[in-house]
Amino acid sequence: AGAADLAGRHVVVSAGGTREALDPVRFLGNRSSGKQGYALAVTAAARGARVTLLAANVELPDPAGVDVVRVTSALELREAAVKAAADADVVVMAAAVADFRPAVYAAGKIKKVEGEEPAPVALVRNPDILAELSAHRTHPSQLVVGFAAETDRVLENGRAKLARKGCDLLVVNEVGEDKVFGTDSNEAVLLAADGAEVPVPLGSKEQLADLVWDQVAARFGTRPLT
Ligand code: C5P
Repeated sequence: AGAADLAGRHVVVSAGGTREALDPVRFLGNRSSGKQGYALAVTAAARGARVTLLAANVELPDPAGVDVVRVTSALELREAAVKAAADADVVVMAAAVADFRPAVYAAGKIKKVEGEEPAPVALVRNPDILAELSAHRTHPSQLVVGFAAETDRVLENGRAKLARKGCDLLVVNEVGEDKVFGTDSNEAVLLAADGAEVPVPLGSKEQLADLVWDQVAARFGTRPLT
């Protein structure tokens, strides 16, 4: 990790987990803490990058020297990501984006009715932000990085996901109960569209973040700043 190997680069990182509202007080959400995304933002800033951090429902203080944009839902995250990606050299989607959202948002709090069964919650698909950003790059040399949590056949599923999403790098985490979410360490493998496969030893989220930036910086190579 060169001291300022991301100097002059604009990096965009999403962190946390989206919340999909059912009504003004309820949502469908997930347990993502945002720690990995924050570690990516902090380490990128330390390596000289200008950092935009898209934070979805993260209970962590804003990192110093980082431009933080707070969002709630997948649709808000998509809007903020498209905007920030306009002049980004690399976008890293570390946020846990809900695959589905309630089909209907109830403007008033949903009430229980005495003696009646609850109404089923209909869901609709959210856009795949990572796939969209990969397909619509704002610069030919813009890089896009995704994260994936897999429980089994990690490499096989990771490779398939990398191809499906169309991104340059995919950080594949092996997850199980009590693994990764909310803890301070990760175990992962970095898969690259150019065929590279970099195992990530068990370590801190900052260490994983620095390995991601090593791979990103190597792929910037001698390409001009955007
Ligand atoms: O398909 P899966 O959810 O496993 O993919 C995870 C990766 O895709 C993460 O990088 C996540 O941020 C991104 N993603 C996204 N939009 C979605 C779902 C996932 O950008 N709707």
